[in-house]
Amino acid sequence: MLATFYHHPPKYKGPNWCELDLTAFQAVQKCLDAFRPDVIIHAAANSDLDECEKNPQAAEKINVVATKFLAQTAEAFGVRFIFVSSDMVFDGKTGFYSENDPVSPLAVYGKNKIDAEKSVHLSCKNHVIARTALIYGRPLGGGSSFSNWMEMRLRKNQTVPLYTDQFRTPIYVENLAEMLLELAQSDFVGTLHLGGANRIDRYNFGLQLCSLGGYNSRLLQKTSMHDFQPLAPRPADVSFSIDKAKSVLTTKMLSTEGGLLRMFENN
Ligand SMILES: NC(=O)c1ccc[n+]([C@@H]2O[C@H](COP(=O)([O-])OP(=O)(O)OC[C@H]3O[C@@H](n4cnc5c(N)ncnc54)[C@H](OP(=O)(O)O)[C@@H]3O)[C@@H](O)[C@H]2O)c1
Repeated sequence: MLATFYHHPPKYKGPNWCELDLTAFQAVQKCLDAFRPDVIIHAAANSDLDECEKNPQAAEKINVVATKFLAQTAEAFGVRFIFVSSDMVFDGKTGFYSENDPVSPLAVYGKNKIDAEKSVHLSCKNHVIARTALIYGRPLGGGSSFSNWMEMRLRKNQTVPLYTDQFRTPIYVENLAEMLLELAQSDFVGTLHLGGANRIDRYNFGLQLCSLGGYNSRLLQKTSMHDFQPLAPRPADVSFSIDKAKSVLTTKMLSTEGGLLRMFENN
């Protein structure tokens, strides 16, 4: 297995690591020509919503143009292409979105993901568009996550402001990895919503994390997403319907309780 990084060299062993800027297409082509993959899982992105809003051209380069190049290369090699997309393709007005619901992004990042999805669909026959939701878990090396940010603050006895009015179907990172690996070996083609088994707001997610991880829940502070004005607008409820994924995959989608339990057991 070959895995790539860009700015942050991984601190753990496992796959063969290769430093690669996915927007440097000659280098990408050279790497793929040498490695000849059977399947490409493309999870790299600029997923900082405010950064994408601030620098839309740079965001488009990695989020859209690089994705199109990789999808075209997968097609040229005749291999499977799994593209990790996002719940941010929806405006969050209704929630429980299925794969057939019309997309309507609020910000540049969501628009990028839709443009990338379209080019994957057009460029590579053997593709999966795996839209995923808020990811939680402990990073193996570098990086961060929503739950990681909370744990860092709780350990330092710092308060944790959490929205009570923003709903997601959060997914435990290992559970997501299992689904992506299953998809890599399956013959499913199309779009799939990979979310956790329950819809939850961020504050109640925080309560579960405190209860299961032994943290002080009095440090959690209820807030509203309407109290803040980030550069990129955030959708209120982009929870997924995961019925289609359940029918396609044998991997079971964990609830936030199940995912958090596994996270605390693992570490
Ligand atoms: N996190 C979430 O809650 C969430 C929710 C829905 C969908 N997603 C999607 O899930 C995927 C993973 O998200 P994440 O949260 O793990 O993102 P992340 O922590 O920001 O990681 C993004 C990765 O992309 C790599 N990357 C960025 N620009 C690159 C470039 N030009 N060339 C090569 N690699 C580049 C980065 O490598 P270096 O760090 O080495 O620079 C990093 O490993 C993304 O496609 C994201 O859109 C995430």
